[in-house]
Amino acid sequence: MFVNKSGCNVKQCVYTKNKNKVFRKKIAMNTMKYNNDILFKNLVDDKDVHDILKDETDRQVCSMELIASENFTSRAVMQANGTIFTNKYSEGYPGKRYYGGNEFIDKLEELCQKRALEAFHLDPKEWHVNVQSYSGSPANFSVYTALLQPCDRLMGLDLPSGGHLTHGYATKNKKISNSAIYFKSMPYKVREDTFLIDYKELEENAIQFKPKLLIVGASAYPRDYDYNKFREVADKCGAYLMADIAHTSGLIASQLLNNPFEYCDVVTTTTHKTLRGPRGALIFCKKQFQDLIDFAVFPSSQGGPHNNTIAGIAVALKQVASQEYKEYAERVIQNAKQLAQSLWEYDFDIVTDGTDNHIVLVDLTRKGISGNKFEKIAEMCNVSLNKNTIATDKSAFSPSGIRLGTPAMTSRGFKKEDFEFVARILYEICTLCIKIQHTAQSNKLSDFTDNISKYDLKLKILKEKVSNYCKKYPLPV
Ligand SMILES: Cc1ncc(COP(=O)(O)O)c(C=O)c1O
Repeated sequence: MFVNKSGCNVKQCVYTKNKNKVFRKKIAMNTMKYNNDILFKNLVDDKDVHDILKDETDRQVCSMELIASENFTSRAVMQANGTIFTNKYSEGYPGKRYYGGNEFIDKLEELCQKRALEAFHLDPKEWHVNVQSYSGSPANFSVYTALLQPCDRLMGLDLPSGGHLTHGYATKNKKISNSAIYFKSMPYKVREDTFLIDYKELEENAIQFKPKLLIVGASAYPRDYDYNKFREVADKCGAYLMADIAHTSGLIASQLLNNPFEYCDVVTTTTHKTLRGPRGALIFCKKQFQDLIDFAVFPSSQGGPHNNTIAGIAVALKQVASQEYKEYAERVIQNAKQLAQSLWEYDFDIVTDGTDNHIVLVDLTRKGISGNKFEKIAEMCNVSLNKNTIATDKSAFSPSGIRLGTPAMTSRGFKKEDFEFVARILYEICTLCIKIQHTAQSNKLSDFTDNISKYDLKLKILKEKVSNYCKKYPLPV
């Protein structure tokens, strides 16, 4: 009888790595035996899901993906994500699990941790990393659970200033994020004249508010941070300092931006943005916080880790440490700078007059159209981007800006000259929006929508232009 390393015989186990011919024949026989079993059916047999997948694949192939938080992960990451690691329960941590059968899962998690520390050039004697968080938002909440008591104070960049929901977002009338519901939050802001973080005001407010946790990091901030300054402020009010580098982690790992690890106690990141891995998160912490962070993730916030995701993260992190990835990260920034420059040449207002990272924020106020309208027409032309508040906006419902990002199309091979084309397309979309609004003779979104069909032909031509251009740049599917 043929047995694999776990001692399973071939009747119980499809062990594809074995090259032995007899073994493979036996698997084929077993598969035939189970042919009618739903367990062995292929995805293509589920027509409903398969058809949606096909449509989504076509959409991705034919679209210009400019959403700053998105990327195209690699074939190897997707393969790792779709493995039998998904079958395994492994509550706990390597060597300390609540279930049996975790010999190889332990190896996988330890490998992922090792690669995470290596990718970010961290000394394992000084830093620990938890790789189990399901995504960025739960990772941040786990940090709060670890370091804060209910009702303790935290301070992060305000959402309209570019910050993230999970950094304590509340409106005047409602606490939106659980980070504002369970903790007391007071945001800091960007200056309304420069759109840059107002470090002076931040310091004054922090000294008064005395947060226990100060958060640096954002979702829509095109400039780098003065982490040293944040450390000084945190020290002045006795706060922990956390960086949420969800957006910029790939650029930080490639040492193209300032290094938060020099100054912070904890650093969180998603793994699916610039880092180009599967959807997940990492929590890095100084060794003295290891037990608190690990306990806050499991058992306080989560159950079993998603081991297939951890496999995908491990694969992505090995890529991040490569020279090829570093060159990719350099191109992401060069392309963003080019996009900002070209858009400026088309008379767009660029927030902060440029970018240090992968994000370009465009203020449409002077064009007289809202981010909602721009996003809508862009989507009809196969261009994905998102409306975004500009710090001076009075209402979050009608933001004046759009946020653009270069990581995804750079993964598909776009270079500087391709981003000149992107700017041209965005200019054409903007011109079309202005025409539609003029035809509608109103600023209302509903009137705008009612008049779109009058420009069907122009929309069709633009969509085809975008689609034909994008199709030439491959992505793993
Ligand atoms: C800065 C920042 N932190 C956290 C998150 C949350 O990540 P997730 O969507 O994976 O929960 C995001 C997502 O956009 C983000 O931009």
